[in-house]
Amino acid sequence: MSQPTIESILQEKRLFPPSEAFAKAAHVNSLEAYKQLYEKAKLDPQKFWAELAETELDWFEKWHTVLDWQPPFAKWFDGGKINITYNCLDRHLLTWRRNKAALIWEGEPGDSRTLTYAQLHREVCQFANALKQLDVQKGDRVGIYMPMIPEAAIAMLACARIGATHSVVFGGFSAEALRDRLKDGQAKLVITSDGGWRKDAIVPLKDQVDKALADGAVPSVKDVLVVKRTNQEITMQPSRDHWWHELQPGMSAHCPPEPMDSEDMLFILYTSGSTGKPKGVVHTTAGYNLYTHITTKWIFDLKDTDVYWCTADVGWITGHSYIVYGPLSNGATTLMYEGAPRASNPGCIWDVIQKYGVNVFYTAPTAIRTFIKMGEHLPMSRDLSSLRLLGTVGEPINPEAWMWYQRVIGGGNCPIVDTWWQTETGGVMITPLPGAVPTKPGSATLPFPGIIPDVVDLDGTPAADNEGGYLVIKHPWPGMMRTVFGDPDRFRKSYWEHIPPQDGKYVYFAGDGARRDEDGYFWIMGRVDDVINVAGHRLGTMEIESALVSHPSVAEAAVVGRPDEVKGEDVFAFVILEGAQEPSEALAKALKQHVVNEIGAIARPSEIRFAEALPKTRSGKIMRRLLRTIAAGQEITSDTSTLEDRSILDKLREGV
Ligand code: WTA
Repeated sequence: MSQPTIESILQEKRLFPPSEAFAKAAHVNSLEAYKQLYEKAKLDPQKFWAELAETELDWFEKWHTVLDWQPPFAKWFDGGKINITYNCLDRHLLTWRRNKAALIWEGEPGDSRTLTYAQLHREVCQFANALKQLDVQKGDRVGIYMPMIPEAAIAMLACARIGATHSVVFGGFSAEALRDRLKDGQAKLVITSDGGWRKDAIVPLKDQVDKALADGAVPSVKDVLVVKRTNQEITMQPSRDHWWHELQPGMSAHCPPEPMDSEDMLFILYTSGSTGKPKGVVHTTAGYNLYTHITTKWIFDLKDTDVYWCTADVGWITGHSYIVYGPLSNGATTLMYEGAPRASNPGCIWDVIQKYGVNVFYTAPTAIRTFIKMGEHLPMSRDLSSLRLLGTVGEPINPEAWMWYQRVIGGGNCPIVDTWWQTETGGVMITPLPGAVPTKPGSATLPFPGIIPDVVDLDGTPAADNEGGYLVIKHPWPGMMRTVFGDPDRFRKSYWEHIPPQDGKYVYFAGDGARRDEDGYFWIMGRVDDVINVAGHRLGTMEIESALVSHPSVAEAAVVGRPDEVKGEDVFAFVILEGAQEPSEALAKALKQHVVNEIGAIARPSEIRFAEALPKTRSGKIMRRLLRTIAAGQEITSDTSTLEDRSILDKLREGV
């Protein structure tokens, strides 16, 4: 596994307790209170979760079994009937929240919309009725390929309302990546828009859908529902494509929520693994609802007066759990922004905070590093005094970026919640509760109540304090993924078999390295598998290698992550060309574009290095560790005795 810079981390001794004022008003208001919750949950997890399920959610029918655990397959609240949209919408209509802002939306060009709970409910019901009219039924899969507009959330909720499973594909993915995901999930319908705004340009989403579906590539897809956003010319296929604005006026605003079994599938979301194609991570209804609800409440400490903003895209798990489901289940006001800092508007983030008086702000370390680079005059020239709590997610945050975030954005008096979790975990797992846990810059601190993490070696033996190892979770939790869509065996192999069961107890392998310090605080050290984290987005090296090799000029490729100041890591590709091909600038450019076409712009290699051979062990395994060192421009000091031919290394350093 990759070794972290342990020394520099060990020097981190700064400790920031929550201010008295913050703690006093917080849902969990002292370290004592946190510890009590934690101990209670640890003593009897089922009782802990059942009590919360009872008090925090509304059910059509109560469950008979809290947890049915047949490792690695869990069922939570079996026998219960529930609909997540009832908890996110209907129940708020019975209270004063009926006319509270549910969703505040700001478009990139500066247009905006606010939907109250009553309005959002109405739109979701109409959208759900449109899906029904297009013959989408309970259990069907629906692809969603959308920009960051309210209809993205409305479409997700509309699916959940009628019991269809949504599969959101990030709008930055290519037509090819979209096609693979629609195919794997056998989607019946695709929801998209004509286009979306991205850094002052239009992303032609509908054109990409057309490409993905061309030549009957995904026979399961019968219809495409198109939301008008950018107004450019697109081609509508009469028998297949429907405009949302043409259907909407005919749709009733009455659509009762489908009573779902607790374990009915809510959504599939694809994520990169170390091998093979992306995995369809499956989340189900009740456990996910409870877990995102309670983590949102305690970690973001939401109050009814708060405006809460998570800057993620709904195409990622953070958008699912902490823009849509968690906040709405709590009756909060959630903000959605279509734009991103760009040359024409570098201070847009701070403008949005100022305009809406955002109180709780949740973003990623890569964004924070971008903000630092753009200069603190941008945030300093806006009024950010409404902020009271800050969060980060997606990758380890380096302590200096944490300090900058606290000083410049938080004005020195906002707690920071550094939240560790994954697509697979459904919600945040390791995090400070902001009114309770003193923070250390760079540490995700302590586990959420009910979560039992550990740091172990490959035999499952717990590591000593401050010793690096593998992060595992030792007890199932309600928000956990249930399986890999269509491939339960892959689920078992990817997550439950790396570490042998301890006393017959299965542990979840997160794929991250970590250490725990003498105070029990967790320090996440990054991925231990062949996954690279580019700007907080997980990319499998295998996928990018496969994309490169699918180009006719490429014989072999190896992709590694190279440290990058802003993105955390960027993509560095070593490429061996087919026989007669000559390396050239033009070819390197073409290969980069090829990866963009196959996967999307996020996977574009920042450098292609042409090589004659790759370093391999005698058994033929590519030595990625060495490639990472070369990509980073560092001296190779580690043992290379297993390498078959040492001379290749010098050639790799220079390129051919
Ligand atoms: C990394 C995003 C350090 C980690 C929610 C994990 C983090 C992967 C943190 C999951 C954090 C996420 N500190 N590392 N606070 N949060 N990660 O599935 O490597 O897109 O395994 O989920 O991001 O990425 P994913």
